[in-house]
Amino acid sequence: MITALVGAQWGDEGKGKVIDIMASKADVVVRATGGNNAGHTVVSDGKTYKLHLVPSGILYKGTVCCVGPGCVVDPLSMLKEMAEVEANGTSLENLKIDYRAHIVMPYHLVIDELSEKSKGEGDIGTTKKGIGPCYMDKAERIGIRFYDLIHPDIFAEKLKNNLAAKKKYIAGMFGAEYLDSKKDILDYDKTLAAYNAAAEKLARYAADTTVIAYDAHKAGKYVLFEGAQGTLLDLDMGTYPYVTSSHPVTGGFCVSGGIGPTLVDECVGIAKCYTTRVGKGPFPTELFDETGDYIREAGAEYGVTTGRPRRCGWLDLVILRYAVRVNGLTGVALNKLDTLTGLKEIKACVGYEYEGAVVKDFPADIRELDKCVPVYQSFEGWTEDITKAQTLEELPENARKYLEFIEKEIGCKIILVGVGPDRKQSFPVDGVCRA
Ligand code: GDP
Ligand code: IMO
Ligand code: MG
Repeated sequence: MITALVGAQWGDEGKGKVIDIMASKADVVVRATGGNNAGHTVVSDGKTYKLHLVPSGILYKGTVCCVGPGCVVDPLSMLKEMAEVEANGTSLENLKIDYRAHIVMPYHLVIDELSEKSKGEGDIGTTKKGIGPCYMDKAERIGIRFYDLIHPDIFAEKLKNNLAAKKKYIAGMFGAEYLDSKKDILDYDKTLAAYNAAAEKLARYAADTTVIAYDAHKAGKYVLFEGAQGTLLDLDMGTYPYVTSSHPVTGGFCVSGGIGPTLVDECVGIAKCYTTRVGKGPFPTELFDETGDYIREAGAEYGVTTGRPRRCGWLDLVILRYAVRVNGLTGVALNKLDTLTGLKEIKACVGYEYEGAVVKDFPADIRELDKCVPVYQSFEGWTEDITKAQTLEELPENARKYLEFIEKEIGCKIILVGVGPDRKQSFPVDGVCRA
């Protein structure tokens, strides 16, 4: 059995929590895309774990956790994260890193930073973790892969060639003065020494994770694909160019996890009961008033990776419908219902007004999206504490009505409702979410 868990909005939907919950039954968890731009939170017994590239199934002793072929690995930050995980008493015995994963190099960090800077107000608002430049090298077919990293001769040669080319690129694109200011970080010997040392520590985790996932599936075991980022950050399906450089949609799991599409049994989209986004780019239901501030504070909406305040707005059902379609979702996990407690009125966007007509399909281009005005449906709020609810029946009627409406509008089952950050503060919904 293979389940893919995918972000249905702009990331930070609470994937870490849901993956951790579902991983209790999983034999293998595979993270297939992205790098340490992700920040996944797991809260267990009051203890908070913040994970970036280590899969969120790591807290379960017997679960094999794979960093898959489509991921990009910054070895230095990976080791730091692994040390934090171990310091929490968690074993890394079952961690695997695919040979094919690409390596984030210091020059990727420099190029990410300078490229954002050179765009001025038109920047994307990246996490500056070198993700885009690393995927650029992969597409250009000059990238360094995990296999290369753990073979010092191959690595030394690739580093030499790439570093020379990148120095020319940096000087030409951004100005020769930058080479001097980044002298240390672009130094061949220092990079070689640091990466060789990291490679020595990481080599024991090397594996072909596609074999692990396939064999587990064949043996009737349960495999979970862990999504990072979200549908609207997908390089093709997202709000281009304000996207990440990988494919966080379901199809991306297949390509980047090395699993055939026919083997995926179910695909669960993870969403919040409202919408957030970090970084730049269009966001039709964004709130610039005290309600937006209320949601940010009540939901602790600050980035796990960068600490940036997240932009907050009402739930956008045009987006969720889009996520259901492009991911082929078989169910939706809806988090953070508790964050809306205390609001007198709750709104959900059911369509966009565009050039005099109401559109229900998410526009393909952001210039059209910019002209879209959300059409809202209003709901009465609730004031009861719902953070201990374990069934739909325990929710106030108004909360149930809100969920019922969402389910009807998106045409997909709500299979899990989140009422708090702890792994216990979520409950499964049996079948269709009907009160
Ligand atoms: P991810 O990137 O999708 O894993 O999500 P993040 O960890 O970046 O952000 C989600 C935040 O919401 C984290 O702080 C979680 O602990 C928290 N969270 C997840 N589910 C719930 C929920 O149902 N209620 C509340 N209040 N917080 C939640
Ligand atoms: P998780 O897995 C939210 C956003 C960045 C920026 C854009 C491109 O925690 O949901 P990048 O550094 O990837 O080139 O930045 O993508 N972004 C995320 N936003 N959650 C994430 O991951 C994100 N990963 C990247 O803020 O807008
Ligand atoms: Mg996150």
